[in-house]
Amino acid sequence: MDKLALLYEGKAKRVWTTNDSELLVVDYKDDATAFNGLKKGTIDQKGCINNRVSNHLMKVLEAKDIPTHLVEEISDRETVVRKVEIIPIEVIVRNIAAGSLSKRLGIEEGTKLSKTVLEFCYKNDELGDPMINNYHIYALGLASQDEIETIASYSFQINEILSKYLAKVNIELIDFKIEFGRTSNGEMILADEISPDTCRFWDSITKEKLDKDRFRRDLGNVEGAYHEILKRLLGE
Ligand code: TMP
Repeated sequence: MDKLALLYEGKAKRVWTTNDSELLVVDYKDDATAFNGLKKGTIDQKGCINNRVSNHLMKVLEAKDIPTHLVEEISDRETVVRKVEIIPIEVIVRNIAAGSLSKRLGIEEGTKLSKTVLEFCYKNDELGDPMINNYHIYALGLASQDEIETIASYSFQINEILSKYLAKVNIELIDFKIEFGRTSNGEMILADEISPDTCRFWDSITKEKLDKDRFRRDLGNVEGAYHEILKRLLGE
């Protein structure tokens, strides 16, 4: 599958058109940003690791009947995906308090939440991705009520599937961000990526952070954490 034209360049990925109007190629970069692009850097090998980790986790989800955009990994950094219209909503699922939830609600990081939390943020860099609720989503016309019900149901299922799967390799799924898209026939599928950039992964025993928080918070050994996730998931 050849890349034709650059369709979109984001902070961590490029998206290319192909000679099939229903398919795109995603190309993962080593660039890392945080705080809405204020902090910039690179994480050596991140593109390759995120490509492989995301595809691996999407396969795990596909096997449990969650539809995803994954078609085929074609190189270290490149994957063919189904073309979708991305819903401009970041869906966040939280099992353990951390990050912005801890800050906003004054709950100590690491506290188990007695119920899984689902949040929506409006994907808009100029506004700093503000948190929104269902009513904002309908008022802004970002998605229909049916679509949000589908998204919420898939998101909770994804959390159950991935939490159980990751626990087997001693990774605790603290929280994660996912994005969905509509295919040309109106199907809602999981898109974007699931990687140490978009999830909080803690070692189940030591509680060591094995994700992008090492970069966001200058904790050191960022590359080591990404490699550790690759090793635990793919044995490399
Ligand atoms: P938060 O605690 O900073 O709101 O992050 C919640 C989860 O979402 C965490 O797993 C990291 C992920 N995330 C992204 O993937 N992209 C982002 O831009 C932000 C802010 C968080």
